[in-house]
Amino acid sequence: MSTLETFDSELRAGAPVGDASEAFDVRKEIYADDALSALSELYGSRDDFAELVARIYRAVHLGFDQRSENLKHFDLRRSQQPDWFQQTDRIGYMCYVDRFAGTLGGVEEKIPYLKELGITYLHLLPLLKPRDGDRDGGFAVSDFHNVNPDFGTMADLSTLAEELRNNDISLCIDLICNHTSDEHKWAMAAKSGNQTYKNYYNFYPNRTLPDRYEKDLTEVFAQSAPGNFTHVEELDEWVWTTFYPYQWDLNYSNPAVFVEMLETLLFLANQGVEIFRLDSVPFLWKELGTDSQNRPEAHSIIRALRALVSMAAPSVCLKAEAIVPSNQLVRYLGRGEHAGKECHLAYNSTLMTMLWSALAEGTAKRISKVLASVPPIPENASWVSYIRCHDDIRWGVLHDETESYSQEEWEAHTQFLSDFYASRTENSFASGAKFQTTDGHEVHGTSGTMASLCGLEKALDAGNDQDIKLSVQRILLMYSIILGYGGIPLVNMGDELGMLNNRDYQNNADFDGDGRWLHRVSMNWQQADKRHQNGMVEQKVFEGLSELIQLRAGLTALKGGQAHVLATANDAVLVLHHRNAQGELYVAGNFSDKVQKFKLPNVNASLEDCRTGKAQAKSVELKPYETIWLQPKH
Ligand code: GLC
Repeated sequence: MSTLETFDSELRAGAPVGDASEAFDVRKEIYADDALSALSELYGSRDDFAELVARIYRAVHLGFDQRSENLKHFDLRRSQQPDWFQQTDRIGYMCYVDRFAGTLGGVEEKIPYLKELGITYLHLLPLLKPRDGDRDGGFAVSDFHNVNPDFGTMADLSTLAEELRNNDISLCIDLICNHTSDEHKWAMAAKSGNQTYKNYYNFYPNRTLPDRYEKDLTEVFAQSAPGNFTHVEELDEWVWTTFYPYQWDLNYSNPAVFVEMLETLLFLANQGVEIFRLDSVPFLWKELGTDSQNRPEAHSIIRALRALVSMAAPSVCLKAEAIVPSNQLVRYLGRGEHAGKECHLAYNSTLMTMLWSALAEGTAKRISKVLASVPPIPENASWVSYIRCHDDIRWGVLHDETESYSQEEWEAHTQFLSDFYASRTENSFASGAKFQTTDGHEVHGTSGTMASLCGLEKALDAGNDQDIKLSVQRILLMYSIILGYGGIPLVNMGDELGMLNNRDYQNNADFDGDGRWLHRVSMNWQQADKRHQNGMVEQKVFEGLSELIQLRAGLTALKGGQAHVLATANDAVLVLHHRNAQGELYVAGNFSDKVQKFKLPNVNASLEDCRTGKAQAKSVELKPYETIWLQPKH
């Protein structure tokens, strides 16, 4: 029996864990090839490669040694169920610490609220010490080893992580690995001319190279931060800044940067963080003559991190934030011989964007086609399915979505979507806003909360009961589909209560000329108090959503994987199908405001409605925006 197997059987028998370091030794063996092959792709041609590998192993050892006994035990427990994050009761919730509960201690007090909703995964948006002044909602980190003092301390973070773990809630935080703020000590040293730290970033003495790079680069904040390079006055040089001028891109061709980020990851994992959202991963590697996104080396960086973290802290999961077309997106989960060896999870931005597209058009024709063309994901990976998050809905990624639509067609369609959600088309129910539009690029993204984009804001303003009902149905339709798609569904704070846009955002101290604050609302606990008051919108949304969450937890046919799209003769309806060893499930949703009928294709078994247990014929009728979940009769 191998050491790991001995550990496993000891654990199963409930015996105390002996020497966790034996398991560590086994894991080093298991992941050595992956780590080494990824590191050689990045740095193998360097003369000091052997030294570098030794340094990286020292970091891994230190990471393991500094891990608490509790966490080492937890690692072994997780190794008994490596598919824990694919279970159907894993439901995420995302929020800003301050906007949800003031401080980390405040978040701890809200655990009962999260549990009531059925939450088992909590993503707290950036909480490490940011720069002063403008900070991109915390995505401009000045110190990876300290918490934003307004939220608490690193000790508070560890306490919270433990308390969440005791409640079976996994803590997720952002690892902002593409850049630091210009106030980070590395950036400060670089500004003072220290060459070691200048090499942590991408500096250019003049505009020659930046201008050559720019020819192929896109702009993320085209309106508020045009261009990808910033002039650093102290040095009279240019530095690469994909996002805001105060967010300096790190230079991963320098292995010191890789080591720093590995050490940071392990340090934070040792505070009890279980899931890392790897921020902006497509941008990690730069190459002249390309758009410097999704480069093979960016994948090698993630693969190396995955192998090394699997040695020291194997219960940790990596999640890719890559808002790119689906054929690029699935690569962040690993492919070919590396399938399943990059991130464990990736945001399904294609599903998210296409859901908004279907809702605006009132038909599922396009979403069915696009979802059917999404490449399959590795078996040991999973999607994070979401509808809204702290960012805008980025339309541009759709342009490369399937070959069955031409560029011109996508351009016209995304123009329509951008107009529709900004309420600039006739019959739009939405009240969102355009994000980062410029003269040349009318279509970039859309801001707005789930409820406002689904029509609740307009309906409440007009006091129109029928429209209020329809908007609640739309919200529940959208959630029903992400809950029924597969992967970890993510609830964006406030969606569960139908919270509306914050129109006063420009008076908010955090607002730094960034329209995304329209939907980054503060939790309204008075609204939360209405969640069980009969007839209130808050009650309809909250109870509708928690009912779906409970239903899902018991439907193991949904575990892992991704749904297959079934074609029916009715374009208004999206039909998803799951089949695995545990069973079969159909999830259907009507995207139109009319009653729709359709027939499920190729179904032999008798079906029942999962919610009511009632028999259901293969011919189905759905009310406007209604969904149905069906399984073979037991
Ligand atoms: C990610 C974040 C976004 C931020 C950007 C730069 O895309 O989601 O909010 O502005 O990275 O860090």
